[in-house]
Amino acid sequence: MESTESRVTMDEITALAKRRGFIFPSSEIYGGIGGFFDYGPLGSILKRNVKNAWWREMVELRDDVVGFDSSIVMHPSTWIASGHVAAFHDKLVDCRNCKHRFRADHLASLEKCPDCGMSGTLTEPRNFNLMMQTQVGAMEDAESVAYLRPETAQGIFVNFKNIYQSARKKPPFGIAQIGKSFRNEITPRYFTFRQREFEQAELEYFVPDDGNDLRAYEAWVVARKKWYSDYGVREDRLRFYELTADERPHYARAGTDVEYLFPWGWGELESIAHRGTYDLDAHMKLSGKDLTFFDEASKSKYTPILIESSAGMDRTTLTMLIDAYASESLVDEQGKESKRVVLRFHPKIAPVQVGVFPLARNKPELVERARSIEAALRPAFRTQYDEGNVGQLYRRQDEIGTPACIMVDFEGMADGTVTVRDRDSMTQERIGVDALAGFLASRLG
Ligand code: GAP
Repeated sequence: MESTESRVTMDEITALAKRRGFIFPSSEIYGGIGGFFDYGPLGSILKRNVKNAWWREMVELRDDVVGFDSSIVMHPSTWIASGHVAAFHDKLVDCRNCKHRFRADHLASLEKCPDCGMSGTLTEPRNFNLMMQTQVGAMEDAESVAYLRPETAQGIFVNFKNIYQSARKKPPFGIAQIGKSFRNEITPRYFTFRQREFEQAELEYFVPDDGNDLRAYEAWVVARKKWYSDYGVREDRLRFYELTADERPHYARAGTDVEYLFPWGWGELESIAHRGTYDLDAHMKLSGKDLTFFDEASKSKYTPILIESSAGMDRTTLTMLIDAYASESLVDEQGKESKRVVLRFHPKIAPVQVGVFPLARNKPELVERARSIEAALRPAFRTQYDEGNVGQLYRRQDEIGTPACIMVDFEGMADGTVTVRDRDSMTQERIGVDALAGFLASRLG
């Protein structure tokens, strides 16, 4: 069987995400709300798998990184110290005619509204703070204003001392956190790429000021490259863009943006940055509290240098979905043409790893055997039992990215075997039921 492949459009991805239960617009029955999305039964597992893959590599498989989970609402002074109150804004332009709002840096010119086409109707650009506000407590006054965090990192910085003392860690060491962040983006777009509520996975790695900081930064760039490659993101669609001195904040000695080639162009998945001592210094200055590290050996204090890796989990999930997508035109030995859509997820990311079906749903012995095989495999793999038309069963599992499908047929009932179909090659092998778990572990592990 020959096959050719074409690149997916965002319309196709959005439609598949809805049809198969990956991602829905939030509160859709009320018309949705821009920049917010809900993950369906398969999408929630896909995103969890992406987060687990990050956590496994960044925390569990290392002895120099500890986990953390801070609150979303923090003391408002946090955002003064971090610079978000004064400087976390986009320049915004309104059209006085059609009332549409744009980011000034997204407009080719300020002469003419790109939506209604009128000239001279756009306002001068003005600052718009991206932090989402809320009230804390019963009183509604200036004192009660708080913010939903626009990044998870600050929770780590303000807890630096609590963490290193309680975990008995000494630089170089890192603190990792995955959690929700909120930004009042002016133009949420490209499906889940730019949202107003999203999840970040952030690693803050603290190193001594001993001249090895750039080496530590480079090691993290290599580690992150390996992570994307291990989970099968296509190399030709991924780039690591090194920021120039002009593109970095003044305190940063190096920075790399990890970018993926989305259907609309390159988009940022992650930023890896050398941030100097900026963040800890800022919190020490405003809080008056000491966040330096006390080195017992030398009996001296210093402020560690920070290397940050900050990845968007929704953007990474979207990347996995887009990167895995293939629409294939198939031609069989008789020259007959057909189409199939397949998600070639890495087996560790795939929401369902093993589909199990009886050849015919009206044969109780086949159904019973298929159900018992599925139940036996369930503790070790993400499995799904299904029944129906064979062609449709395979098509459905291809479309949700299931790497292996098991069919229970009459021949297998007689000799204790099943067929295992490989998603990518579409070839089938006959395997003994006793050997099934080992066979699958070697393919999906
Ligand atoms: N602490 C550093 C920090 O927050 P950032 O470059 O602003 O850096 C890091 O954000 C990552 O968070 C981005 O690379 C992106 O993957 C994700 N992210 C940021 N804004 C987002 C949004 N509006 N929607 C979805 N993901 C977003």
